Amino acid sequence: MSKKSEFVVVANRLPVDRVTDGEGEATWRRSPGGLVTAIVPVMQRRQGAWVGWSGAPDQDLEPFEAEGLSLIPVRLSARDVEYYYEGFSNATLWPLYHDVIAQPVYRRSLWEVYERVNRRFARAAADVAAEGAIVWVQDYQLQLVPKMLRELRPDLRIGFFLHIPFPPMELFQQLPWRRDILQGLLGADLVGFQSRDAASNFVRLCRRFLDLKPQGHEVAIEGRTVRADHFPISVDANELITLAADPGVQKRAAQIREDLGNPASVLLGVDRLDYTKGIQQRLEAFTELFEDERLKSGDAVFVQVATPSRERVEEYRILRDEIELQVGRANGLYAELGAPIINYMHTSYTREELAALYLAADVMVVTPLRDGMNLVAKEYVACRPDLRGALLLSEFAGAAAELHRAFLVNPYDIGGTKNRMWEAMHASPTERARRMRSMRKRVIEHDVDLWAKEFLDALEDGR
Ligand code: ADP
Ligand code: G6P
Repeated sequence: MSKKSEFVVVANRLPVDRVTDGEGEATWRRSPGGLVTAIVPVMQRRQGAWVGWSGAPDQDLEPFEAEGLSLIPVRLSARDVEYYYEGFSNATLWPLYHDVIAQPVYRRSLWEVYERVNRRFARAAADVAAEGAIVWVQDYQLQLVPKMLRELRPDLRIGFFLHIPFPPMELFQQLPWRRDILQGLLGADLVGFQSRDAASNFVRLCRRFLDLKPQGHEVAIEGRTVRADHFPISVDANELITLAADPGVQKRAAQIREDLGNPASVLLGVDRLDYTKGIQQRLEAFTELFEDERLKSGDAVFVQVATPSRERVEEYRILRDEIELQVGRANGLYAELGAPIINYMHTSYTREELAALYLAADVMVVTPLRDGMNLVAKEYVACRPDLRGALLLSEFAGAAAELHRAFLVNPYDIGGTKNRMWEAMHASPTERARRMRSMRKRVIEHDVDLWAKEFLDALEDGR
């Protein structure tokens, strides 16, 4: 019999992705996105198993160890990837939960596969969990797992955390499977959200669509009590502070600035290439500063790093084309020979290179149209003990509830964003330091370890 675990994380993705290089050799690389960034350090400090998908279709893999973690792969066929991952998860739920920025696709065939794949994850978790173990299910791809897992293993203590926003009634109501999703989540003992609003939306929806009678944060169902609450996620602040202090990283940051031509201001965006991130709006605001002749080549350079993401989903393909056109057009109009105003990199970087970019940036531009939290904002703050950077942050990012001393913007308001960007670029060193000091206090005190501890303590409390 295989070894059982007292603590199990279940997420759509494993923390590493299986990629095949030019010679056909398979290697492992850190998976993209905030979920993996946040959960890896938590798991490295607590012994446990991580159940998830390898990121490639049709892979039959045995459990293995990587990054000091014990990983249990779940197989997805090419059809599962298309219907469950690209389909229901990323063409239905993702846009629905992010304010319908893109039109969600509602198709029964996608739902059926979502259900089937959720059952597979539930079985995999049930197989690996020890008697009475804690199982922590992550994110929107696996919202049916808590209920399915409880049916298989009523002895377990089940937590669920949603990394993305949870929509209000008017939007969630569209979902043909709204009752199934709510019931799926209520299989957990504790359902965690990024924000207070998201937790209230959930409780309100349970009352409206399941005829339950929640009392405050608690929902009584089938003789159990489910608690719904908010637990804003964070970063591994110490890891980032150590990286930022590394002489190699600091040297690289200086080199980056030099390579950019030592402009007065370096602005930086770091995102998955996703339509929720507001990349087009921020580049438009920046370009308008040149159009208005408030900036000229040499004054400021924008570095936009965009990790490839969900490239087979149509909306993502369209977005990539549009951004590349936009960057080309802006540089065509305002760059000088050898000095683009926007440096666009469609790639992902190591943590060291990211830290060097954060150190090199005078203004970090984080302007999502909607985001559960946004860890990039917190990473930047953690990396700036010198207090010299400025953070331009969207009101629509979960992080804005904690980082109120950022330069806050409404990213839909291009004129307002442009002015705030200008203000952030020209803020005095004293003002930058004042804002950064207050934001750093928050990020350092509320790091990812505290987040995990608060969630897991609340989960244990109800035992
Ligand atoms: P999301 O989870 O939607 O991708 P977050 O901002 O919460 O958004 O998390 C993104 C994570 O991915 C951060 O830890 C960030 O450092 C990392 N990341 C984003 N872009 C890149 C990139 N180009 N290279 C490496 N890591 C990246
Ligand atoms: C966000 C989601 C995660 C997801 C990540 C990367 O952070 O909340 O669940 O893993 O994006 O997206 P991907 O589709 O590549 O897993």
